[in-house]
Amino acid sequence: MDRMPNPYRPGFNAPPPIFVGRDGVLASVSEGLDVAALDGRTPRPLILTGTRGVGKTVALGEAAALAAERLGWPTVHVEVRPKRPFTPLLVERLAAARDALEHTTRKAGRSTHVTGGKLSATALGVGAEVMIERGADPVSTIPADPIGRALTATMLAAMRAGAGLVLTLDEAQLATRGELAAFTAVLQEHMGDDWPLVVLVAGLPSLRDPNRSVTYLERGEWQELGLLDPDDVRQALVEPAATAGRPMDDAAADILVGASGGYPYAVQLYGHHAWRASDGSRHITTDHARTALDAARRELEEGLYASRWNDASPKEQEYLAAVAALIVRTGEATGPLAAAELGAAQSRVSYLRDRLLKKGTLYAEGPRLLFLTPGMAEWVMKH
Ligand SMILES: Nc1ncnc2c1ncn2[C@@H]1O[C@H](COP(=O)(O)OP(=O)(O)OP(=O)(O)O)[C@@H](O)[C@H]1O
Ligand SMILES: [Mg+2]
Repeated sequence: MDRMPNPYRPGFNAPPPIFVGRDGVLASVSEGLDVAALDGRTPRPLILTGTRGVGKTVALGEAAALAAERLGWPTVHVEVRPKRPFTPLLVERLAAARDALEHTTRKAGRSTHVTGGKLSATALGVGAEVMIERGADPVSTIPADPIGRALTATMLAAMRAGAGLVLTLDEAQLATRGELAAFTAVLQEHMGDDWPLVVLVAGLPSLRDPNRSVTYLERGEWQELGLLDPDDVRQALVEPAATAGRPMDDAAADILVGASGGYPYAVQLYGHHAWRASDGSRHITTDHARTALDAARRELEEGLYASRWNDASPKEQEYLAAVAALIVRTGEATGPLAAAELGAAQSRVSYLRDRLLKKGTLYAEGPRLLFLTPGMAEWVMKH
């Protein structure tokens, strides 16, 4: 029997075979595209936050796919890297998008003097229209800062092509506040230009930290991505198997849906291992599902949890254990509760909390402390 390719996609940034749930995100993206394409206005940005592996990056990808399928609009995607400015990459990608858009315009035989049709005055903004009409020297009419200049040129190219642009910024919590502020200042400055521009930003929950907040983003629409509903998880597991020609038994799906806890990364990982365990069979059975549980759990533990745990000092590990015990026992941990659990004064252990927050092993939601990787509290307790 031929070995069939595994349809599941465990791994960060790996688009799933089917994207489930997230109706709220898709509705907001759809609404944003409508506002930009039909009303000729720039919608407010959409900001997606959530823990590791919850599906922020693939949600950005879905937004890009929606814009491409529905409108034929390109997306400029930038992932912020640790300790590195993102502006050079953003400027480079904007220039590449501009080239592609200009190519489209040339192929369609449009010239910069076309003002009818899709190149309406409202979509362009007055200043922009004047610039095109006169073929004015771009250097004198466009802003001097690199992002502003690149974005202006790309948006003009998009509008000449009768299109718009989607801009996605991932791992935004890694950006410095200064750079993020410079980026959003450009967006704010051009809000009145009615550019057909849809901006999406994604990052860990620490993006919400009021100390780093940037006004323009604060006014955006924030959506926190959480765990998936059991029905959605079932669909994510069952459909790819059926499509690939090796259906999953209901009882096998029950096992995997329960074990995943709705954590998207785990859903793909369990699916992947169940497929592997069923190699050579005609369908995926409960036996295969059970084999998959062991293999997938080991991978989750060694890959996600152990690496975080080993990255913590002995004192930090004590603190993590206290937080885990509280979460497993009562569902809630805070700084004061963790101190009490350790039998220490809060002032003596708060530096541990701060360090773990900084490392991103824990994150804070108001006073509450949570693990950045779902399932880690339970793992720490068993450890
Ligand atoms: N809605 C979904 N339906 C099915 N699978 C999903 C969904 N969302 C995410 N996944 C799967 O979960 C995994 C993690 O997704 P992704 O890399 O987008 O997470 P992330 O939130 O960006 O994580 P990180 O914070 O580490 O960047 C991938 O294997 C992806 O295929
Ligand atoms: Mg990501």
